[in-house]
Amino acid sequence: MSAERACALSELETDTPLRVEVGGKPVAVVLDSAGEVHAIGDTCTHGDVSLSEGFVDGDTLECWAHGSAFSLRTGHPLNLPAFEPVPVYVVEIDGDDVLIDPTRTKEV
Ligand code: FES
Repeated sequence: MSAERACALSELETDTPLRVEVGGKPVAVVLDSAGEVHAIGDTCTHGDVSLSEGFVDGDTLECWAHGSAFSLRTGHPLNLPAFEPVPVYVVEIDGDDVLIDPTRTKEV
């Protein structure tokens, strides 16, 4: 599978996650305050809740349910109760298109 258009770059608001589906997988897309676009698995590894409803702080996304903060770069939780990482996908920007390949995770 190759990269699919996930959303428009212009529809992303800084530090406001956007939930999309790519290849049938839920993904949280985040434009951070440094202008970098990240794509991580949207389902918290502690509970079945959507991380895109959480809070961005720098390069982390905090789960709203119990407070585990996941690195947007590595997918690893930085604090309990979650202890397993979420996948982090490679993002490509083509004009105003944000492209994500759901079969390509970052090697971290
Ligand atoms: S469901 Fe995300 S930390 Fe508990």
